[in-house]
Amino acid sequence: MLGQLTVDPAFAVAPVDPRLFGTFVEHLGRCVYTGIYEPTHPSADRHGFRPDVLDLARELGITIARYPGGNFVSGYDWEDGVGPLEERPTRLELAWRSIERNEIGTDEFIRWTRLAGVEPMLAVNLGTRGVDAARALVEYCNHRRGTARSEQRIRNGHSEPHAIRVWCLGNEMDGPWQIGRKTAVEYGRLAAEAGKAMKLVDPTIELVACGSSGRSMPTFGTWEASVLQECYDVVDYVSLHAYYEQADDDLDSFLACARDMDAFIDSVVSTCDHVRACVRSDRSINLSFDEWNVWYQSQLGDLTRREWEQHPRLIENVYTLADAVVVGSLLITLLRHADRVRIACLAQLVNAIAPIMTETSGPAWRQTIFHPFALTAAHARDGVVLRVEPTSPTIDTARYGAVPALAATAVWHEELGELAIFAVNRSVSEPLELRVTLRDLDLPAVQHTTLTAPDPRATNTKEHPNRVEPRLVEGAYLERQRLAATLPPLSWNLIRLVRSPSW
Ligand code: AHR
Repeated sequence: MLGQLTVDPAFAVAPVDPRLFGTFVEHLGRCVYTGIYEPTHPSADRHGFRPDVLDLARELGITIARYPGGNFVSGYDWEDGVGPLEERPTRLELAWRSIERNEIGTDEFIRWTRLAGVEPMLAVNLGTRGVDAARALVEYCNHRRGTARSEQRIRNGHSEPHAIRVWCLGNEMDGPWQIGRKTAVEYGRLAAEAGKAMKLVDPTIELVACGSSGRSMPTFGTWEASVLQECYDVVDYVSLHAYYEQADDDLDSFLACARDMDAFIDSVVSTCDHVRACVRSDRSINLSFDEWNVWYQSQLGDLTRREWEQHPRLIENVYTLADAVVVGSLLITLLRHADRVRIACLAQLVNAIAPIMTETSGPAWRQTIFHPFALTAAHARDGVVLRVEPTSPTIDTARYGAVPALAATAVWHEELGELAIFAVNRSVSEPLELRVTLRDLDLPAVQHTTLTAPDPRATNTKEHPNRVEPRLVEGAYLERQRLAATLPPLSWNLIRLVRSPSW
């Protein structure tokens, strides 16, 4: 199989926004408790955080972290999570049927983000609460001093404002499962009024309105249009959420699911631009893909049958090589849309559908999906995405029809003199011979890293944490502005071309 693409620095899509490499930390299962925070862990720091998870979060290269939900936020009273620990209430947490003791709240999470070196992104509750709680939280976090809320933060030990820039106006408000679900017009009005009050407190903040909770929702498209009609002038982004899983034995369709993400993004861009025309705005709304991943949702089971528990083991999916290749292909899709997708959050960070796993009182390790994310974040950040127009034979899939075997994009770092090509071979049986034509680029050194394994179902576990790992491969070569490399069957690949090698 032959796949081809052309790289020309003149054909730029857009600079890569660092916020494309975001994550999501929800009070869900063991993401927070025994994930980022476990005060009884033998290695816990003085704040109760796990240093092994902090190290892995830094290695993953995440840039922004969304918190505290997700579905959790729609029943959350942020006031429960600030102030002296012994005064914090224990609550029934209805989204994930858990007991929430509020040991971690806004201030602790901000402290964790500072330690991790990432930007916090907070969601306000527009399910059971509204304008008042939202503007009060912005004041608590961002107002310098001299008001009841800002002085409360200072008394709680944070003399400097948290300076949170990005705020989500609720979460998945179209979903029947959401506490305080609303119609599009109800939500759009509330988002406009809450957002207006929040920006009156701090005009520098950026706001994300809830788009549909998925492309398959019956109101998808009309939801975005109606919501934006109500709040276009107040918000800066609209959210997209997508989770993919392999149905039955249909691996080929699963490997092609980036086609769905691609179409999803195109549709939301069109809807935003349609509303822009209707409201006569001179400003574009960008996209915040603030939940995406592989998630075996069909295994979730009936939450209502569970006993009430503190941080239960929920949705702890163990990822395979095939899942990692899919995650790599979804990252390629996000990069290809870097002109409009400005924020993206891999959901989630630890234990719950996560690249990082922990054992309570035990070790932490990298799931398979950790690797394409970490390498893409490391080698795409601060570059410019180029249009490369890949061509290749196609694979017939039951779900998406004929889909190219090759998915690829390239990121150019002018100052470093480095080009990173990200490429997936979706064929499970055949290698793909990649040929790249380089225009106006003199990059004599090449390094090829691949993520593959003999078995698509190979996983990393506590006992075998390094079964699926990226490795350097020989064989890629350059001759007169042409690059040749072999992409193994079912593989995610990073090919780096540099002016002066330092590896
Ligand atoms: O990430 C898990 C859940 O998926 C989130 O809480 C919700 O927003 C989405 O449905």
